[in-house]
Amino acid sequence: MDALAKKIKKNLQLRLTVINKDGVVVAEGYKDKKSMNNHLYRPEIMQANKQDIGIAIRHSHTLNKDMLYVAKKIAIKNRILYIRVAKELKGIYHEFLNLSLKISAVLILFFIFLFVISYKIHTQIQYETDKIVTFLKALTKKDKPKYITSSYSQEFALITSLLTKVSKILIKKEKQQEKYTQKLQNSNKQKDDIISAISHEFKNPIAIVNGYSQTLLEDENINPNIRKKFLTKIHNNGTKLSELIDTLRLSMKLDGETQSIQTQKTNLYELAEETIQTLQLTYPRKHIIIEGDKRVIIDVDKTLFGVVISNLIENALKYSEDEVIVKISARTFEVIDTGIGINKKDLENITQKFYRVHQNSWNNSLGLGLFLVNRITALHHFSLKISSKVNEGSTFTVAF
Ligand SMILES: Nc1ncnc2c1ncn2[C@@H]1O[C@H](COP(=O)(O)OP(=O)(O)O)[C@@H](O)[C@H]1O
Ligand SMILES: [Mg+2]
Repeated sequence: MDALAKKIKKNLQLRLTVINKDGVVVAEGYKDKKSMNNHLYRPEIMQANKQDIGIAIRHSHTLNKDMLYVAKKIAIKNRILYIRVAKELKGIYHEFLNLSLKISAVLILFFIFLFVISYKIHTQIQYETDKIVTFLKALTKKDKPKYITSSYSQEFALITSLLTKVSKILIKKEKQQEKYTQKLQNSNKQKDDIISAISHEFKNPIAIVNGYSQTLLEDENINPNIRKKFLTKIHNNGTKLSELIDTLRLSMKLDGETQSIQTQKTNLYELAEETIQTLQLTYPRKHIIIEGDKRVIIDVDKTLFGVVISNLIENALKYSEDEVIVKISARTFEVIDTGIGINKKDLENITQKFYRVHQNSWNNSLGLGLFLVNRITALHHFSLKISSKVNEGSTFTVAF
């Protein structure tokens, strides 16, 4: 046992002492056990006796050093023994200090590491949130950003993808709103134009009727020739007013999708001749040439198709200086002029209701003529083709 105690001393720098139940030292690593006193009343042995384990810090007279003693009571084959180990306190303090320094260093490193990591996380989150705030601010402005992305974390990726969706919806809504406002403005302007066009068209004939009738009322002894001239003017302008109202009413009627027509077999040449005769009264100085097949018979609503013929020829008369040619064949009805022509952009819109080419004179122009022509030809399942060149002239073709 002494040899074991010595070995422990050598390898572990621990003092091992084995004491029997009477306090006699049975083994000892540091000193000759025979020279040692009875150990029964050593505090650690007394405590171990009572509680199995005893601990004491005290001065060792044997070694003349402050020591830490730990004793354990054990029983081997009914023999009670106390195994006691002792270690110099100075060594323990030293080791403890060493250990605490090491722990502190590790802790400090750990906290520095934590600080660096959390600082990095903080700056990254700050950067991401700043980005989102800037994006949100920009969303309230007119030029909205289209998208925002973040690959920092799943949450940020989700937030930014949702924000991109929100931005897309907002941009779409804004575009729709702009379109709607533009449409509203256009339609308001169109309405204003229509009202001024209608009032303009009505104003002239009404002024003529009022003026001449007033003169006739005021002067009873007016020359019969002049009276007849004035009355003719009044009659003509009354007719013009009634025609204007007819045109407005007809275009309102034909505006609906479901309009039925009453067709009958009609000699196209004769219908065109009748219409030309009436027009010639209004345009006595203009020359209208009619040519083609005199026997063509087509199935049409006579009154409505008369409106088509009349409008096409009247346009040709209004928008050209030279003669107008009307051509009739079994498949087509054509009105050809060598007038001012129509540019490409206007050609696309010319059959719209109330559409007029602005440079043209306002007189006798409501912009309804070609709308009626288009609607009536469609009701007959005919097609309308317009070919025109600016300053060269136009050809309007109705194909049956
Ligand atoms: N033969 C033509 N030559 C040149 N321009 C024409 C001709 N026919 C129609 N247009 C243009 O098309 C517009 C629309 O014609 P229309 O619907 O008949 O209305 P309106 O004759 O009452 O002005 C006219 O304002 C005119 O500018
Ligand atoms: Mg017209």
